[in-house]
Amino acid sequence: MIPAPATAEAVLHAVLVRRSYARLTDPAPTRAQLEVLVQAAATAPDHGRLRPWRLIPVTGHERNRLGDVLGEAAATPQQAHRAVSNVLRAPMLLSIVLTPEADHPRVPPWEQLAATAGMVTTLTLLLDSHDWASIWRTGPAVDAPQVRKHLGIRDEEKLLGWLYIGTRPQAETVRQRQPPDTSGKINWTYAPAES
Ligand SMILES: Cc1cc2nc3c(=O)[nH]c(=O)nc-3n(C[C@H](O)[C@H](O)[C@H](O)COP(=O)(O)O)c2cc1C
Repeated sequence: MIPAPATAEAVLHAVLVRRSYARLTDPAPTRAQLEVLVQAAATAPDHGRLRPWRLIPVTGHERNRLGDVLGEAAATPQQAHRAVSNVLRAPMLLSIVLTPEADHPRVPPWEQLAATAGMVTTLTLLLDSHDWASIWRTGPAVDAPQVRKHLGIRDEEKLLGWLYIGTRPQAETVRQRQPPDTSGKINWTYAPAES
């Protein structure tokens, strides 16, 4: 169901107040709640409407198993120890998998990656505005063979990390921030590059 239209101010506000949160508590969205938000996020700009991604939620005790595998892939015992507990920082770890269509005649791989990042970013905004919270995390483990095997990542796919999803702890205040200074980011004038 598409909710009632938000005002432009409400959308601007939602973008400005969205924050990532490092530690999230129960509950996570239900399967039905997540599916609604993912369907909405899938409307993000996507050349060719390829939707070149898939998502693998890891919840409950599955997180411990993933933590063990991340530990096996870690470079040091200290990192392995941390990996086992890090997976418990949120009730849901949504694995983000890029499923690029190779040799597409019009949409090169980088555009497919851009479309996927746009979908994930939109999903973070939707989660935040629906009183969930999230943080996108990556790390070298995304390319570890054990981790790829555990999640069933196919050779042509790339694991882009996990969107940790849950509820913002009540004790944690909403971290407000000033919008970044983007004054030099738009080149209203430009000149040809010197060769
Ligand atoms: C592709 C991608 C990967 C990221 N990986 C990590 C990560 O591994 N660890 C981390 O602390 N933050 C990571 N971040 C940054 C956080 O998701 C988050 O954006 C950052 O903490 C800033 O918080 P904010 O979203 O409230 O501005 C990543 C962001 C992106 C877009």
